[in-house]
Parts: sequence; C-alpha cells; structure tokens
Amino acid sequence: MLLLSGPNMAGNELKYVTECITTGWVSSVGAYVDQFEKMAAEFAGTKYAVATSSGTTALHICLVMMGVNSDDYVITPNITFIATCNAIKYTGANPIFIDTTVKSWQMDLDLLEEFLTHETEQRNGVCHYKKDGKRIPVIMPVHVLGNMCNMDRLLLLAKQHNLTVIEDSTEALGSYYKGKHAGSFGLMGTFSYNGNKIITTGGGGMIVTDDEALAKKAKHLTTQAKSDPFEYIHDEIGYNYRLVNVAAAMGVAQMEQLPGFIKRKHEIIDFYKTELHGVGDIRFQEVYADVNPNWWMPTIFTERQKAVLKILNDNKMQSRPFWVPMNQLVMFKDNLFYNHNDKSNFVYHHCLSVPCSTYITNEQLKTVTDKIKECY
Ligand SMILES: Cc1ncc(COP(=O)(O)O)c(C=O)c1O
Repeated sequence: MLLLSGPNMAGNELKYVTECITTGWVSSVGAYVDQFEKMAAEFAGTKYAVATSSGTTALHICLVMMGVNSDDYVITPNITFIATCNAIKYTGANPIFIDTTVKSWQMDLDLLEEFLTHETEQRNGVCHYKKDGKRIPVIMPVHVLGNMCNMDRLLLLAKQHNLTVIEDSTEALGSYYKGKHAGSFGLMGTFSYNGNKIITTGGGGMIVTDDEALAKKAKHLTTQAKSDPFEYIHDEIGYNYRLVNVAAAMGVAQMEQLPGFIKRKHEIIDFYKTELHGVGDIRFQEVYADVNPNWWMPTIFTERQKAVLKILNDNKMQSRPFWVPMNQLVMFKDNLFYNHNDKSNFVYHHCLSVPCSTYITNEQLKTVTDKIKECY
C-alpha cells in the first residue's frame, strides 16, 4: 500500500526516544520539550513556542486565552478539517463559515470583506454580527493544504474590523508568504504533528507567538494551571494539554530533517504537475504570487474525481476526497454560511489528494500518475 502521507522516521527518532526511555524522562517534563519548542519558534520566526498535545488543543487554548465564549462567533473558512470548528465549539462559540475560492481553496477574501462590511458593526471597538448582536472577536484563517491567501489583505481586513487573527497553520509548517512563515502573522499561530503531517510526533501540536505574556499563559493553561511549584495550588481551570517528552524527542529528530522533507514535497508536486500536465481536465491548487507553500498534500481537481479515487484505492495507492464542507455536517447545518453559489460544494466534489509521503520514490510516483491517466 502506498500511503497518502506516511511518517518518515529516517533520522534520530529511535536514538532520542530510546534516551527518554532509558533515562525515565518520558512524561511531561524533560529537555526535549524545551528543545522542540525552541526549534519550532526559530523555524517559524516567532519569539515563543509552546508545545501541546495536538493541533486541536493548541487551537482551543488560543481561543480560551482570547476569552472566546458561548456568546461569540469565530470566522473561519467553510472548507477545513473538522478540528478547526471543534476547537471553536469547545469554547461554546459558533463558527461563521466563509465560502472558499474555486481555485486556491482558501477562504474567499472578497466574500469576507463583503460580509464584514455589510453584516457586522463595531460596538466599543469590538466586531458584532448585526443580526443578533453577538460578538465576533476572532477570525481563524486556515492555510488549507499548506497554501495561503493574501495575508496582507486578510490582516488589513482583520485590523479594520477589530478581529484578532489566530492562524490555523497546522498544515503549513514550511509555508511562507512574502518570506514570512505561516503562523507568524496572527497574534498566535498553531501547528499539528499528527501522523500525516510534514513532520510528526505521533500526535502533538504547537502554539507560536511573539507575545511573551500569551506564551506564559499558554504554558500555564496547558499544564493544569498550577501556580505553585510545590503545592497543588491551581489559580484557574486548566487543561492537561502538554506534549510529553518522549513525543518531543521524536519532534526534535523530525525538525532536524524538516528542510529535506519540504524539498521532497516540492519535488513530488513538481513530478505530479509535469506528469499530469494536459491530462484531461486535471488542475492543481492555485498559489498566489507571494506564497511559497510547503506542498504538504498534493491534491488534484478533476471532473473524474470518483473514477480516480476508485482506481487509485483499488490499486493500493491511498488517495482521499477533500473534507466535507463544514456547512454540510449535521452539527453545523444551522450555522451561518456566507456564500454566493456555494463554491465549497463544487470544490468538494472535484478534489482528491494523492500519495505524497516524503519517502515515496519517483518510480512509485510514476505508477500513480500512470494509473490516473487510465481514467482519461
Ligand atoms: C486544518 C487542520 N486544523 C486542525 C488540525 C488538528 O490537528 P491535530 O490532528 O494535531 O489535532 C488539523 C490536522 O489534523 C488540520 O488539518
């Protein structure tokens, strides 16, 4: 079976994990957590990084720190992985979904601007939804598949409407806009080290920020909000969302290889683009001029989505459809979905992701593209 995006453990993973096991430093404290956080901040170009148990918990903590609650909305794209919206719902808030673009598959900034201009108003420096008067304190853009939208425009809109930007950059480790790393644009950004990501700790996440107070608060909240080093005194409701040392050890080994992984992801997308150029109606995700994505998960757009999915999976080449748009899920069917002609549904019915593990060989890639060509 050719995995869609499998973990690549070719470096020092075993060595560092073994060290944790032989020394007993497997749990919540240990040198690897600190080292992994340092490496993550350095790579993202932020001052601070706080490791978490997952990308989802990283997102949740960011929202908690912003005081987001059940009286609030959070703006997010309609096409994302469910975890973005789950994190929003954990706070009691509700997502407002903005439709996606047909070409880049990111949040449509024209629609966002239209929504903010006509449907919201400022009250005491806070954005409110006109219809019911609820607050919209946060916008959570998602860098879908490691691609990014026009961040200058997004940040300007957020500033004009007093929205705090928390980036769901969980898929965008190694992605840049005008040379600046994803996750470093908003007040906070997040990463995921889930098994299919560009690097993995089995499961894990990271919050990055330039704000020292927020970084300290994130560490505090993710470690049960214990306020005394000795006594069990907790000064607020905390969470057990820390990353354990044994996972961080894996993370350090993975970070050492990250530049090579990014390079390989770029080679893989180049291979697909060259081999599939002019084949039927196949096209790829559009990338704006200033974006240098990590190409974490090569995904094709075609009328023959179902046929391609079938032939690849029947031949043990794991490929997957795009996420079901959020407005189509039972939990969100009544949420506000701002759109003209529902582009998300169109994108959803045309996209599929193809095998792209960093260790895949060009010969294996060729077997995939040959199979795809059989559908046309
Ligand atoms: C867009 C998006 N948001 C959030 C997450 C959540 O990350 P995790 O699986 O580490 O909780 C993921 C990855 O799984 C993701 O792809």
